[in-house]
Amino acid sequence: MLNDTQIGFLTSLVAPDQISSGESARALHSRDQSSHAPHMPDVVIWPDTTEQVSRVVAFADRERIAITGWGAGSSLEGNSIPLRGGIVLDFARMDRILKVYAEDFQVIVQPGIFYKDMNKSLAQHGLFFAPDPGANASIGGMIANNAAGTRTPKYGATRDNVLALEVVLANGDVIRTGSRSIKQSAGYDLTHLMVGSEGTLGIITEATLKLAPLPEHFSAVISSFATTADAAQAVFGIMGAGLNPAALELLDAPCIAVINQTEGLDWQVAPTLFLEFHGASEASLHVELELVKEICEQMGAQSFTPGLGRDARDRLWHARHHLAEFMFRIHPGQPYLISDVAVPISQYPPLVAEAAAVLEGMENVNGYIFGHAGDGNMHSVIFFENWPDEFARVQTAFNDRVVAKAIALGGTCTGEHGVGIGKQKYMLHEHGEIAMDLMRRLKAFFDPNGILNPGKVVS
Ligand code: LAC
Ligand code: ZN
Repeated sequence: MLNDTQIGFLTSLVAPDQISSGESARALHSRDQSSHAPHMPDVVIWPDTTEQVSRVVAFADRERIAITGWGAGSSLEGNSIPLRGGIVLDFARMDRILKVYAEDFQVIVQPGIFYKDMNKSLAQHGLFFAPDPGANASIGGMIANNAAGTRTPKYGATRDNVLALEVVLANGDVIRTGSRSIKQSAGYDLTHLMVGSEGTLGIITEATLKLAPLPEHFSAVISSFATTADAAQAVFGIMGAGLNPAALELLDAPCIAVINQTEGLDWQVAPTLFLEFHGASEASLHVELELVKEICEQMGAQSFTPGLGRDARDRLWHARHHLAEFMFRIHPGQPYLISDVAVPISQYPPLVAEAAAVLEGMENVNGYIFGHAGDGNMHSVIFFENWPDEFARVQTAFNDRVVAKAIALGGTCTGEHGVGIGKQKYMLHEHGEIAMDLMRRLKAFFDPNGILNPGKVVS
């Protein structure tokens, strides 16, 4: 717990409405969207300048107070839960677009801006930031977790779209990493060391992002299959043929039932692919779609509906982006495990087969399998009865086996949700003793007093 002197000093660093140790503010910053146990911070601070962040962090370092950054609280692996209490820095007031370089397809933003709000603003320049996690995540959180979403096959994850950062180090020093040049070879890549470090190495206070032009020609497709295995095989067929979808998502039959129920639709309840292509012209799109159709039909597609109009296309992606939320609505108040693994694309069918087999063998759960198939990324959401007793059991029964399979297939324990709390147990297996030791030493070098989001990634 912080003492009165510490709270008093922190209060002197910011305006009165920028700090709270009230119960409700602390409770609101105690959990993310996972089922990991909540933990309250002692105090929440809403900084509005980098200088304030620097002063607060420097004080926390001197006093050995834990400090955890906060954006939207939409993380899925406990990444933003302040496990050791202390200070939560909520970036809600640092949410501005600082500069748009439309001619360079770049934007400089503060970390608290939510990506959907940012994209609404950028649309007037005909530009957008491509990574699209389902929830309306903050840019700071997306960078800290290297978040991704449906558009990764064509546009990359957050990591591929960050050029430069401003970061506050554990002692309060402020550094600028990277540059606005697309090519950068000037020494160690501190920008990408920070991306995905989950606030354990530094705190991001500004970001320069790469943007893409809004596509003028696009086509969305929905295609259903008799089995999930057929659908997964079609994914490999499409990617293996060198086609370039902007999005390629797989949803098993229970996912489609969830969408039908919440959205009042009557889509065929079957394993389904959602695809989208972005092209330079209608003609090039047409050629690409013909090839995709051929591949899906070879893999036994039962239906193939291309060329969805703008409304149908928006409905498709709305449903996909809100899929997890729809599931929570259908299972109100029920605890769940959200899993996230990724493999090279040729190994996607065996990964999906393993997950389906493991799920099949589990009792008293409702499970869903879906994912950003085009980049070999698979999710499952598994609802179970008693929290916390069964949470550990479900993690072991499902995650242990599916993660082991993903790693054996040449993949990773997390494609986009990050390590947070739940994936730490797999880090050694994935990286080996020497690499883990190096990561721990790196952490100790950047954060000698262990104040930055302690208990995460390499605790
Ligand atoms: C999604 C989240 C679970 O893809 O990552 O919907
Ligand atoms: Zn996802």
